[in-house]
Amino acid sequence: MELVLTTHFGNERYRFAETYEQLGGYGALRKALSMPKEEIVAEVRKANLRGRGGAGFPAGVKWGFLPKDLSRPRILVINADEGEPGTFKDRLIMTRGPHLLIEGIAITCYALEAHTCYVYIRGEFVREAEIVQEAIDEATAKGYLGKGILGTGFDLEVTVHLGAGAYICGEETSLINSLEGKRGWPRVKPPFPASVGAFGLPTIVNNVETIADIPWIVTHGGEKFASLGVEKDGGTRLICVSGPVKKPGVYELPVGTSLRSIIYEHAGGLRDGKALKAVIPGGSSTPVLRADEIDVGFDIESMQKIGTMAGSGGVIVIPEGTCMVRALSVLMNFYAHESCGQCTPCREGCGWLAKVLHRIENGQGRNGDVELILEVCDNMLGRTICPLADAAVMPAQSFIWKFREEFDGHLREKKCPYGNRF
Ligand SMILES: Cc1cc2nc3c(=O)[nH]c(=O)nc-3n(C[C@H](O)[C@H](O)[C@H](O)COP(=O)(O)O)c2cc1C
Repeated sequence: MELVLTTHFGNERYRFAETYEQLGGYGALRKALSMPKEEIVAEVRKANLRGRGGAGFPAGVKWGFLPKDLSRPRILVINADEGEPGTFKDRLIMTRGPHLLIEGIAITCYALEAHTCYVYIRGEFVREAEIVQEAIDEATAKGYLGKGILGTGFDLEVTVHLGAGAYICGEETSLINSLEGKRGWPRVKPPFPASVGAFGLPTIVNNVETIADIPWIVTHGGEKFASLGVEKDGGTRLICVSGPVKKPGVYELPVGTSLRSIIYEHAGGLRDGKALKAVIPGGSSTPVLRADEIDVGFDIESMQKIGTMAGSGGVIVIPEGTCMVRALSVLMNFYAHESCGQCTPCREGCGWLAKVLHRIENGQGRNGDVELILEVCDNMLGRTICPLADAAVMPAQSFIWKFREEFDGHLREKKCPYGNRF
C-alpha cells in the first residue's frame, strides 16, 4: 500500500532535517522551485486533494480564490489547532515529520507567491510547537526557509503562534482574529479570507495534513495522488481511531477504505469481545452511524450519501452497553463550554441542549423533552455566523433519530437503564 506521509514515522530521527534529507526530503521543494507556479497549483488541482481539517474543500480550488492582483502581500496560515474531539493526527505529523509540513509550506508559499506563513498551534501542544520551531530553525539554517531560498529570489518567513486552548479558534476566521491578538470570534463571510484575511490581507488557511501532502504531490504528480483515493477525493488520509478497540491509533489509509475494515482490520476490532453499537466517523461534530451502517467507504462523498461526514478523520468507536443519552450529554457539555457566545442561537442553544440532556440522563426528564431538543436544534442549524452550532446539532439530531428508544426509555423509567450517574 502506497503511503504519502507516514512511511518513516517509525524512525525517531526523521524529525531532524539531516535524516529527512537523507530519505529524500526537500527534493520536492527543489523540483517545485524549478516549476512554473501555476503548474504546481494545477498539479494540486489534479490531485483532488480535499482539505483534511473538516470541511473537505478542494485545496487547489481554494488557492484559486486568491485575488490575481499581487499588490497586497499574501499570507498562508496553517491550522494546527486540532480541536475536534476524536482527532489526533496533526500532532503526529508535527512530532514525527515536521519537515513534511515545512516543505509543504515552502512549496505552497512559493506557488501562491506568499512570503509569510503563520503556523497556529493549539496552546496545549507545547511540545509539538517546540518540535516545529526546532524544525523551522533547522530548515532556515539549511536555506529552505528565510531569504533567497536555495539560491532563488524567493523569501519566506514562517512563525509559530500558540493559541490559548479554544475549540472555536480552529474555525478559520476565529483563528485569524486570535492570530491578530483579538478575541477568537468568527467573522461574517463574505469577505472570505482569500480576499480579506489575516491583517486584512489575502489569506489561505489550510490544515496541517493538507499541506504535508503537498511535497508528495509535487514529487509524484497530481494524477498519481488522485489515483490512490476515489473519484473527486484523492490520496490517503490519516484516520484516528479511538474507543475500546484492540489497536487504537492513527492509520494512514487510502481515501475510500471501508469504515468496517478501519475498525475491524486495522484497529483490530473491539476489545473484550464487545459488539459494536455505533460509530462517530469524522470527529465529534459528525452525525453518528449505527453498527449496521459501517459498510461505507471513508471518503467525503460516500459519507455524505449516508448522511454523515468524513470530517477530520476522527473515528470514535462506541461499544454495546454505552448509554447514548449519556454519550450525547458529554458531547453537548463540550459544545456548551466551547460556544464562543457571539451568536444567540449557539450560545443559548448549546446551553439548553446540555441542560435538557443532563436532566433526561439524571431521571428528571419531562414529557416533551426530546421534542424540545429537536426544536432547539431546528432553531440553531444554519442560523449562526460559523458552523459551531451545526457541529453541536448534527450529533444531537442523529443520536435521537437513530437511538430514540434510549431517550424515551430514560423518560419512561425516570432513570438511566444503564445505571449511569453524573
Ligand atoms: C468550530 C470549528 C472548529 C474547527 N477546528 C479546526 C481545527 O482544529 N483544525 C482544522 O484544520 N480545521 C478546523 N476547522 C475547519 C476550518 O475552519 C477550516 O475549514 C480548515 O482549517 C481549512 O483547512 P483545509 O481546507 O485544509 O481543511 C474548524 C471549523 C469549525 C467550524
